[in-house]
Amino acid sequence: MDVLAIGDKVHDEARQGEAFSPFANDPNRYSKHFYIESYGCAMNFADSEVIASILNNAGFGATRNVEEANLILLNTCSIREKAEQTVRKRLTEFRKLKERTPGLLIGMLGCMAERLKAQLLEEEKLVDIVVGPDAYRSLPGLIEEAETGQKAVNVLLSREETYSDIAPVRIDSNGISAFVSIMRGCNNMCSFCVVPFTRGRERSRDAYSILHEVTDLVEKGYKEVTLLGQNVDSYYWIDEQKDETVTFAVLLEKVALVSPELRVRFSTSHPKDITDEVLHTMARHENICKYIHLPVQSGSTRILQLMNRTYTREWYMAKVDRIRELLPECGISADIIAGFCTETEEDHQDTLSIMRYSGYDMSYMFFYSERPGTLAARRYTDDIPEDVKKRRLQEIVDLQGQLSRASNEKDLGKTFKVLVEGNSRKSDADWMGRTSQNKVLVFPKKSMDEQLKGTYVMVKVTDCTKTTLRGERSK
Ligand code: 5AD
Ligand code: SF4
Repeated sequence: MDVLAIGDKVHDEARQGEAFSPFANDPNRYSKHFYIESYGCAMNFADSEVIASILNNAGFGATRNVEEANLILLNTCSIREKAEQTVRKRLTEFRKLKERTPGLLIGMLGCMAERLKAQLLEEEKLVDIVVGPDAYRSLPGLIEEAETGQKAVNVLLSREETYSDIAPVRIDSNGISAFVSIMRGCNNMCSFCVVPFTRGRERSRDAYSILHEVTDLVEKGYKEVTLLGQNVDSYYWIDEQKDETVTFAVLLEKVALVSPELRVRFSTSHPKDITDEVLHTMARHENICKYIHLPVQSGSTRILQLMNRTYTREWYMAKVDRIRELLPECGISADIIAGFCTETEEDHQDTLSIMRYSGYDMSYMFFYSERPGTLAARRYTDDIPEDVKKRRLQEIVDLQGQLSRASNEKDLGKTFKVLVEGNSRKSDADWMGRTSQNKVLVFPKKSMDEQLKGTYVMVKVTDCTKTTLRGERSK
């Protein structure tokens, strides 16, 4: 299961098992409490903040203590089978708690709720509420229904819902980085992907509400926003007041202009949609981070066609060239799938060679997992044996390790502006921050009571591993 904490990137599988719980400032203000865990992409974590807001208004405070909860919510992911298995396991753990806690309600939200719908109520006797990604406004009503002993379901997808008027509750964040959702759904129809079925049609959020949310975050002291969407480059909104078309490049610029002190990131880009205009906008603004997550999925044109990615190997390579030309300092990362239907050793070698060509700083790597209902499940046979998938994935992981190390070694001796996020995970004597390229840079504190969290510091890189840079303050 992909589980992610604020500040991490979309689809961070390294953080498995962690729970996210938006926690009410003053839980005693509420007579009822909800406990929420989020799995999957950053979009789900952003949604949980919207859900927290809706529930606060309905009289539920958040709690991190599951024993104290009247309502347990799992905001789930369906992207790979493993993601769903983790949630099922978690549900069985909550079974015991439900048996000894009269009145405790359990709700399943998000992509798995959408995919399995009412089937969940019969199958998983412990789920009382099932709510899809576009139906969170109906949660308070569904909870009331469930409180009377009925099973409550709303999995209607919408063509309009963007929750634009709901101010997310960011109680569990580090106070420095926040996700801002700019669009929902996806129209791409990659053949392996369940998202178009679980999150519905693509729609863009009102640009004014996005800017309002970002301005509010800056006023509250946040230093970094990540604009989120399944495919941010196809953001498209018409400002009828000004008769202006707001593309992603235009939106990015508007967000960058909110404050020069605010770092702006975005995820995820589709290689077919990211435009020169976006790259030029990134070049113009120092505070737009020089980092692009550009999922390649495969390096073989034949496989890319079967995946319905709508670009070729050469097109992708030309995009990488263009990024390097316009943004020489830009970090690039990718998502890669090993062992898609019919993949040959030659196709796999094409994936390894495009990785070398692109010189990814980092990748999220998966083996293909067939998802019911997707185009690939209907059209192709999942014919690559599991041991072959795993061996190919291991070769991809090993190569990425070499590329990440080489990328970090190139940074030795360079000085970076780092946004300090807090203590290093390994030692309280060190600070941890990120470069514009999204690399983690650790450096020593001058004293244990030094206050640097949320500030920018210039740090010279003196040492590295394949995952982390280490350095010394340059001033
Ligand atoms: N099997 C394996 N990986 C998948 N992804 C999406 N669907 C599947 C699947 N069925 C990966 C893609 C995508 C990332 C979010 O998850 O690489 O970019
Ligand atoms: Fe998982 Fe995709 Fe849904 Fe995100 S949008 S939770 S990655 S299935």
